[in-house]
Amino acid sequence: MDTQTTAALTEKYLMNTYKRAPVAFASGGGVWLIDVEGRPYLDFIAGIAVCALGHNHPVLTASIQAQAARLLHVSNLYLIPEQARLGQWLVEHSALDRAFFCNSGAEANEAAIKLARKYWHAKGDQRFEIIVANQSFHGRTLATLAATAQPKYQKGFDPLPAGFTPVPFDDIDALQQAVRRQTAAVMLEVVQGEGGYRFPSPAYLPSVRRVCDEGGLLLILDEVQTGIGRTGRWFAYEHYGITPDIMTLAKGLGGGVPVGAMLATEAVSSAFQPGDHGATFGGNPLACVAALAVVETLEDEGLPARAAEVGAYFVDQLRALARRHSVITEVRGLGLLVAVDLSMEAAGAVTACRERGLLINAVQPKTLRFAPPLIVTNAEVDQAVTILDAALAAIVEPAAAPA
Ligand SMILES: Cc1ncc(COP(=O)(O)O)c(C=O)c1O
Repeated sequence: MDTQTTAALTEKYLMNTYKRAPVAFASGGGVWLIDVEGRPYLDFIAGIAVCALGHNHPVLTASIQAQAARLLHVSNLYLIPEQARLGQWLVEHSALDRAFFCNSGAEANEAAIKLARKYWHAKGDQRFEIIVANQSFHGRTLATLAATAQPKYQKGFDPLPAGFTPVPFDDIDALQQAVRRQTAAVMLEVVQGEGGYRFPSPAYLPSVRRVCDEGGLLLILDEVQTGIGRTGRWFAYEHYGITPDIMTLAKGLGGGVPVGAMLATEAVSSAFQPGDHGATFGGNPLACVAALAVVETLEDEGLPARAAEVGAYFVDQLRALARRHSVITEVRGLGLLVAVDLSMEAAGAVTACRERGLLINAVQPKTLRFAPPLIVTNAEVDQAVTILDAALAAIVEPAAAPA
């Protein structure tokens, strides 16, 4: 089906929930996507930080094919060997002790919110409130939307579940002042993703951990976008010398197969008993085999460390570009979580890049997001920077030139 027909069917039959670019992809390989008309694109968005191994990775593809030929799905009514192995891998590579599997980031955060409430309930304590950060993004279900302190996402969905108190991100005094008798937990992204790839100052998260310890509060870290090697470590909290009580994962974990996970310490996990929470598809054999293929390949090929190196190279190249394009006001990144602030709306640059064969997006109105697969090479980074250079020259310089 060509792009035009796909666009017409989309317009007629699908709900109007996404602003979609007029391009449809037929296949992919590595960091490249091929559209239905056969045009190649360098994919520096990777399904929004999802396709950690790129497209059509031979190990991931073979694992999924073999599992599909054996067994797709049973229920959590039974033991699932692949789920048990994935749980073991995640526990052995993190600071947490037990895992619960679901299908998305929102679902993982929903589980985290429920577990935090249940933890206090099980102690006979009525604490329920969760402190969250302005500009956060935790998902689109009602509870995770309530935790997402960005009015543009919440508008029109009142009443949202109660019990979420927003404070400014990276402001420890504000967080401390928000703690009350009913505060159960603090829930934060380590680096704010949809908020614009906003990094906290180095002292912030250790201070949040201290406030939590002093008040007996749980620290929930949402690593849905930052986890599984993207920042150069398995989990972004490792950069800050702290550990959470609960952590959520999704996006990169399945490499494109929908998998979410919520991990917690033994003490916190024990609040969940049979019947307290569940998900029909959560941790099914297909999803878990895919996630195992992703994490084991990332580990075997040392890809988190490589993400750190390639990401540092990428940031250097973007900073060099910024010296030639005054429209770039800031470049920041950690591993392959990279953002560029512009002094103008970013949408034009996204389109100009796409027209030249580079896929990126605008994570905020004036911020470009780059989240390529972790297998990306320096040579592919060079290609992306060359395209961005041409795109910025095309959209900025003609306008800036005297008439
Ligand atoms: C930090 C973070 N948490 C949660 C979510 C929600 O994940 P999902 O869209 O899989 O529900 C996202 C999605 O962008 C995210 O970036």
